[in-house]
Amino acid sequence: MKEQKKILEEKLALSRLGGGEKRIAKQHEKGKLTARERIELLLDEGTFEEIGGLVTHRTTDFGMENQKFYGDGVVTGYGAVDNRLVYVFAQDFTVFGGSLSETHAEKICKIMDLAMNTGAPVIGLNDSGGARIQEGVRSLGGYADIFFRNVQASGVIPQISAIMGPCAGGAVYSPAMTDFTIMVEGSSYMFVTGPNVVKTVTNEEVSAEDLGGASAHSTKSGVTHLTAQNDLDCILKIKRLLSYLPQNCEERPQNYDYDIGEEYREQLEDILPDSSNKPYDMKEVIHGIVDEGSFMEIHENYADNIVVGYARLGGKSIGIVANQPFSLAGVLDVECSKKAARFVRTCDCFNVPLLVLVDVPGFLPGTDQEWKAIILNGAKLLYAFSEATVPRISLITRKAYGGAYDVMNSKHIGADFNFAWPTAEIAVMGAKGASEIIFKKEIAQAEDKEAKLKEKEAEYAQLFANPYSASDRGFIDEIIEPGVTRRKLIKAFSAVQNKVVNRPKRKHGNIPL
Ligand code: HXC
Repeated sequence: MKEQKKILEEKLALSRLGGGEKRIAKQHEKGKLTARERIELLLDEGTFEEIGGLVTHRTTDFGMENQKFYGDGVVTGYGAVDNRLVYVFAQDFTVFGGSLSETHAEKICKIMDLAMNTGAPVIGLNDSGGARIQEGVRSLGGYADIFFRNVQASGVIPQISAIMGPCAGGAVYSPAMTDFTIMVEGSSYMFVTGPNVVKTVTNEEVSAEDLGGASAHSTKSGVTHLTAQNDLDCILKIKRLLSYLPQNCEERPQNYDYDIGEEYREQLEDILPDSSNKPYDMKEVIHGIVDEGSFMEIHENYADNIVVGYARLGGKSIGIVANQPFSLAGVLDVECSKKAARFVRTCDCFNVPLLVLVDVPGFLPGTDQEWKAIILNGAKLLYAFSEATVPRISLITRKAYGGAYDVMNSKHIGADFNFAWPTAEIAVMGAKGASEIIFKKEIAQAEDKEAKLKEKEAEYAQLFANPYSASDRGFIDEIIEPGVTRRKLIKAFSAVQNKVVNRPKRKHGNIPL
């Protein structure tokens, strides 16, 4: 018995050493933590239970039978984050560069299956040289086994991918199919083909960082939802993100106790500028409404004419979608429509109610947008709101023009409550454009055409640049003063928290992708 215990202890000690001290030191030199250090930071102290720590690969080609490391380049298991169960895998770059073998993939699949069967989030800490070259198609099959599970788990349990080192080739498609991707600045990259292949095929010279670093994917492609300054920051952001989400699609996000008080927010009264053509920062409105310090922005540096993110309102988790007048006047374009549509669907999957703050002059005109299919992409957002069954509340702070009025969670597409500030302007288009069309003849016949246009503009604005004709029809439920917004919203969300919507039976809808 003693002998058996000694053998086990030796094996476990070896498994904890990964690829050895030298390789661990190399990982640290690059400013990266090891797989085990990352897991330790992520999980509540003492909660990690490892699975498959003694697994080794089965390859005999290329002398691989003499190169075996316990765990085979990935540490897998479960534990708790803030006392809630999560499943986790962390690729170990010190073992064959964290490359994915058949057995490495089997370990990941095993915890994905467990996560799905038990309804708990799965978190992947990726740091890998890609397919284990010595294993050929067996490794590719392993990737596909993971991809298949990513799709089966989609909308069932939250899936979060942290990219904490290389992630190249087809390997990128697993993170791409999870709910959130977070990249560490300076030490991670993601691309389908690396700089060498790019040079050969297109003759373009580009560094790995410029091609697929955290900055490129957070600003240009939108592939990553979040970036982190280093490994620790990355882990902390994962934990924060989890705090807004439920364990699975059958549950609601966790709530914090909150006793509603007066909730008056003076600062909201003065945010809007005097002129309706002047920009302002919608994030100030968000901070003015939500629980202090609770707003976590997603996709912060991508398509910033729309702001999306999580917050708490009276202790309850909400998702926020808000036009941002500070960027492109808050207009809807291809990128921001895609960004917001994805966010709406993620919230809807996981029962996170939606607050929509509207100040939108319309869709961005022009050939660039039309040829990039603003029709299909704008439709994604319209579709996403229309299919969402979570509680949905809108507040129009200022402009809500044209088709964008309909799209931004209007009453007509199923919003539960629609509020407007007295500054709201709800119309088919702005006063100038509208007057030029409907008073064309009158203006043409006038002696002073400019004065006539101004007069007609004022007439039109008087009639439509306000929330009253919309509230006459019941499209707006209530016009509220900015200072009472927070209280109104807390009460309104509470009134619809048990909302149940049954859609017609079907296989699945056909969102215009
Ligand atoms: C086997 C690998 C490996 C791989 C790295 N290693 N990648 N072993 N298969 N894919 C090993 C190295 O041999 C080395 O072993 C150790 O990991 C560390 O690698 P280094 O090169 O020393 O590290 P570094 O200089 O930091 O460079 C990291 C790297 C580079 C940029 C990731 O290793 C690299 O380019 N690897 C190959 C990447 C690649 O082409 N992968 C296939 C992509 S295609 P020793 O023993 O020397 O320490 C793909 C398809 C997936 O993944 C398709 C899914 C559908």
